[in-house]
Amino acid sequence: MPKSIAIDGPAGAGKSTIAKKVSAELGFIYLDTGAMYRAVALKAIESGVDTKAREDLIKIIDNINIAITHDDNIQKIFLDGRDVSEDIRTGEVSAGAANVAAIKEVRLKMVELQRKIASDKDVVMDGRDIGSYVLPQANLKIFLTADIEERAKRRYEELVLKGQQVNLDDVREDIRNRDNNDMSRAFAPLKKVPDALEIDSTSMTIDEVAERILYFYKNYASN
Ligand code: DC
Repeated sequence: MPKSIAIDGPAGAGKSTIAKKVSAELGFIYLDTGAMYRAVALKAIESGVDTKAREDLIKIIDNINIAITHDDNIQKIFLDGRDVSEDIRTGEVSAGAANVAAIKEVRLKMVELQRKIASDKDVVMDGRDIGSYVLPQANLKIFLTADIEERAKRRYEELVLKGQQVNLDDVREDIRNRDNNDMSRAFAPLKKVPDALEIDSTSMTIDEVAERILYFYKNYASN
């Protein structure tokens, strides 16, 4: 049976940075499941479809091809054959992704793809429902949090470094809205399951968080 580590938590808690580090250390692949919801949102936006329009989105996912590749542990995501790894990182796609992620049919299709990948390879998977729904049998489940001010600041700095023009208040508001959406949806909402280890990364460095996860994995979860 391939091994799996699930990392869930709210937006901007550092999940992807940590997941990349932990997966590289263990020789696992890293799967950023948020990228899949982002790809669905991008397709909707490019097709002129409202990201909240359930019926239209069902048609979109009936006819979508999402492929993930890993080269040197770098994930690339392809939408209908086109590399959209960068295009899915805009504010518009972020907001759209939270909308499409609330639609059950979209989730079921993405979860099928995620489970297929995990059935084949050792994986560190990050998202919102990995420990609670996608991989309930994961070897280790982490619930990664940080306070909202710190998460907003991190996301803001990341976007500025990418050359995007943003302000901190908008980024904080966007994170708050997405958290509310993710926690309040009816199907597979963001929540901490009882068997997840909660790590509050507010005043921890990336290395400290990664080390703690690796420690728990190696000592308690690798068998
Ligand atoms: O982690 P992210 O910001 O790239 O995620 C984009 C959106 O997709 C976010 O609103 C949460 C949602 N998502 C989800 O509902 N379930 C997942 N497993 C991953 C992401």
